[in-house]
Amino acid sequence: MLREPDVLSLLMRRKPAHSLVQELYCDPGVFQVDMDNIWYRDWLFAIPSCEIPKAGDYVVHEVGVYSVVIVRGSDGEIRAFHNSCRHRGSVLCKSKKGRNPKIVCPYHQWTYNLDGSLLWARDMGPEFDPKKHGLKPVHCRNLSGMVYICVADQAPDIEELARETARYLAPHDLENSKIAFSSTIVEKGNWKLVWENNRECYHCAGNHPSLCRTFPEDPRAIGNNGDGGLAGALDLHVARCEAVGAPSAYEISDLGEWRFVRTPLLDGAESYTMDGKVAATLPNSSLPFRDAGALLKFRYPGTWNHFLSDHVILFRVTPLSATETEVCTKWLVHKDAQEGRDYDLKRLTEVWIATNDEDREVVENNQRGILTPAYTPGPYSEIHEGGLIQFTDWYADTLIRAITGRSMLAAE
Ligand code: FES
Ligand SMILES: [Fe+2]
Repeated sequence: MLREPDVLSLLMRRKPAHSLVQELYCDPGVFQVDMDNIWYRDWLFAIPSCEIPKAGDYVVHEVGVYSVVIVRGSDGEIRAFHNSCRHRGSVLCKSKKGRNPKIVCPYHQWTYNLDGSLLWARDMGPEFDPKKHGLKPVHCRNLSGMVYICVADQAPDIEELARETARYLAPHDLENSKIAFSSTIVEKGNWKLVWENNRECYHCAGNHPSLCRTFPEDPRAIGNNGDGGLAGALDLHVARCEAVGAPSAYEISDLGEWRFVRTPLLDGAESYTMDGKVAATLPNSSLPFRDAGALLKFRYPGTWNHFLSDHVILFRVTPLSATETEVCTKWLVHKDAQEGRDYDLKRLTEVWIATNDEDREVVENNQRGILTPAYTPGPYSEIHEGGLIQFTDWYADTLIRAITGRSMLAAE
């Protein structure tokens, strides 16, 4: 089992533009280093805010050793707390989701308000101060309908992402949406393999027959090529969308942890459906045309998203172990859209349910092949896998920065 100094040394010696060494994809010590330095430090997308529309609605999200309750207060604010009672530590919310007027501990019924303050604790004596026993807060921000949490004591700055999310998502009304469908799968692969697979479409033609009906494989259409050059068709699409007030130009953060770009779908397709037409006739965007393509966003390490003219798909990645990763997918439609009238659930979900399963299979094959002693890091395609070069650079730099306090990217 490797420790931080070993991981640091592997990262410093890594071959750029190549897949990582075996240990980084399977060693339990590396998994712990990843959790401690990335997942327990950074902002993670947890849920869409529309999942908890009413006061008292809550969801429990677990990341590694942490269990977090995300709850909407009576004032409409969404807050997050550690799911552990301030009496003797029992979990407070046993179910994954629900609605409660107050948070009541199942053990001795200490009762908390939705803002985390302790309301009632039986027979604790005259010296007991309820004010000192409120729930421990977890950093929580609702960015235009996407709720992010951070379990670290000090959360990294999120203001730039908040601003850019508000700008890019302005035409997409997540607050007035609802979850039409949710799927959770476990991929038997390291979380970085899940991301690597996500950041390229080199594998699409050979694996995704349904997705390839509408999604462009051309890396220049999605900014995934090595030189960052964009196809002419993308420029035209961006100009057309921006002319109607929908921010669309390619933008990536300085540290590389987030990116936005609105790409056209193939042959004027409108949505990720088998026939390329919209899946929801009551859209959750204000885009004035249906063929607005997909606003593609990622925010490492926990989420990638597709914002279409008619619906939104949010993917959430959660590592479970060195070789197991949960991928949760939520399809959001307008809150007033009625199944059977405004959308057909099968039409809405079939392309990405199939695509997720195909991705699960290639990720699992990748992991199994990496576990053989014969594996050595191989070269990324500069044409198709620029996104992987970007991802692995981000990963290495983020860990090096977390461990040493110095950035390799900044030193270049
Ligand atoms: S542990 Fe929660 S009330 Fe005792
Ligand atoms: Fe894929």
